[in-house]
Amino acid sequence: MRICRTKADMRALVRAWRQSGETTAVVPTMGYLHEGHLSLVRKAKIEADRVVTTIFVNPTQFGPNEDLATYPRDEDRDLSLLRAETVDAVFMPSVDEMYGDGGDTYVEVPGLSAILQGALRPGHFRGVSTVVTKLFNIVTPDIAVFGEKDYQQLILIKQMVRDLDAPLEILGHPTVREADGLAMSSRNVRLTEDQRIEAVALSQSLDKAEQLAETAPRIDDLEAAVRSVLSDAPSGQIESIDIGDAETLAELSGALDRPAVILLAVRFGSVLLIDQRVVRPA
Ligand code: PAJ
Repeated sequence: MRICRTKADMRALVRAWRQSGETTAVVPTMGYLHEGHLSLVRKAKIEADRVVTTIFVNPTQFGPNEDLATYPRDEDRDLSLLRAETVDAVFMPSVDEMYGDGGDTYVEVPGLSAILQGALRPGHFRGVSTVVTKLFNIVTPDIAVFGEKDYQQLILIKQMVRDLDAPLEILGHPTVREADGLAMSSRNVRLTEDQRIEAVALSQSLDKAEQLAETAPRIDDLEAAVRSVLSDAPSGQIESIDIGDAETLAELSGALDRPAVILLAVRFGSVLLIDQRVVRPA
């Protein structure tokens, strides 16, 4: 497995693969890898000849009061997990290598970055779309794989690639969960024991909404069902419950008459957990 710490090294490697007729898939991450990330890597291996994983805790997508300084990191463990998956290369640049003295250019998807999670985290999605564009330009992949767990991020990146005619295909992959249903996240390790137990309410509330969807409910009823299950987690503070069109994220109201995505953000102490589920009318 090649470890590339510079943009030049990364570009040269993928250029050589392309010259010998091989395709490349990239899986962008911020490290502290878990089964969710590894499932994206396995998907990438099926879809392309070569797989690159990127590990970069991107400062520009964290707000001033967010957890950049305490974001969990373990480079050695990440590399051994990726070796076991027989990934071809890992791109792990320093902040200086990525941004140098800063920069003056941003990529923004203004509509999608201003709503939902974006409204709660100003600047977050601008940081994501900019760093993902840079990673695409450095790695030059044919395919990139993203998790549905970060549903708004996935929709936003698909829109960005469409709008800018970026020459690659974006694939989404389902959320991988712990045995009790909690969506895997690098941040789960920062939950206390009690919070960890209560956090299962997120996925349980989505299960409830999914069952309810079969009874031709109204959007309000879905939200009420989610809220009622989440009240079983008293130490979780609900930041947002949003129900939108599964493809455009446009807000829905009235009867559930098309595939909808339920997006949850619940804060346990300083840890913000998100989860998501697409529900369909019967
Ligand atoms: P990170 O949170 O490390 O996630 C990297 C990728 O793993 C994302 O596509 C995310 O949706 C996916 N992922 C996380 N948890 C998952 C789970 N339980 N099941 C399936 N996939 C999961 O998302 C980012 O990093 C960053 O914003 C990034 C895109 C790398 C840009 O900095």
